Amino acid sequence: MRTLTLLGLSLLACSPLHAEGTAELDPLISACAGCHGGHGEGSAELGAPALAGQLSQYLARQLSGFRDGRRGGHPADLGGGTMSGASVGMSDEQIQALSSYYAQLPALTSTGREAAPDPDSLKPGRRAEDGEIYREVCGHCHGQDGEGYPAMGAPRLDILDAAYLRRQMDSYASGQRGSERDDDLQSVWMHDVAAHDGDREILQRAIDYIAVDGYRDTGAGP
Ligand code: HEC
Ligand code: HEC
Repeated sequence: MRTLTLLGLSLLACSPLHAEGTAELDPLISACAGCHGGHGEGSAELGAPALAGQLSQYLARQLSGFRDGRRGGHPADLGGGTMSGASVGMSDEQIQALSSYYAQLPALTSTGREAAPDPDSLKPGRRAEDGEIYREVCGHCHGQDGEGYPAMGAPRLDILDAAYLRRQMDSYASGQRGSERDDDLQSVWMHDVAAHDGDREILQRAIDYIAVDGYRDTGAGP
């Protein structure tokens, strides 16, 4: 990984970058693909979230957070620790280039299907009242359909699978992610939501509604 990072760095120094993904970025992107998939679709098995179609500024802030220890530094945060390892030695330029690259890829679900423009069509069992909960407690920051809100630094949620969403909510609630010591304003906001608005059933129903893979039990319906 370190060799790949250094190789990427020296190649990046030679020529300008553009968003489509370039030969210069390839060594880094193939390292990412080992966990996040060849199309940035993520891997539920490895706990690596989808990156394709995620907001560029959000990705960049997370990558620098992992690199600089604002995210992933808690000893109990195994997923975050893995990603911190993967971001060692990354330059700001590489972070920007990777973030633009993944942001412009078509959004995919964790199972490789293209995200439908109407998220309802992916989830026949989704309940209207769960949507109301989602919109009330999450939608004003993450967008009514989970499309993200760049001005707030709030990421898209509609590309993330339920297991990842749940794990992050637990991580915010316990302060593994977003405690004051992390000195990261947006993650502290989200910590407050998870810890203080934290009726678990409410949070769970909001997640079930917005997660790309739908309800935990596929039979769940109205
Ligand atoms: C060894 C596996 C592994 C590799 C390699 C890896 N990642 Fe990750 N990545 C993860 C895991 C696991 C997480 C979830 C971390 C958590 O639970 O907080 C993650 C999270 C992320 C996030 C946060 C996304 C979000 O929605 O908050 C970004 C951004 C990211 N990775 C980008 C990259 C990039 C770019 C590369 C290549 C340079 C890369 N990763 C390489 C495993 C990996
Ligand atoms: C006050 C605004 C606000 C509200 C309300 C809010 N969020 Fe967030 N959320 C954010 C911000 C900002 C971030 C980025 C935090 C960071 O950088 O760690 C975030 C991050 C997240 C993440 C991490 C995503 C990733 O890719 O790792 C999840 C999951 C999440 N929110 C779920 C929810 C859910 C579910 C709700 C409703 C129960 C909710 N949020 C309500 C602002 C909000």
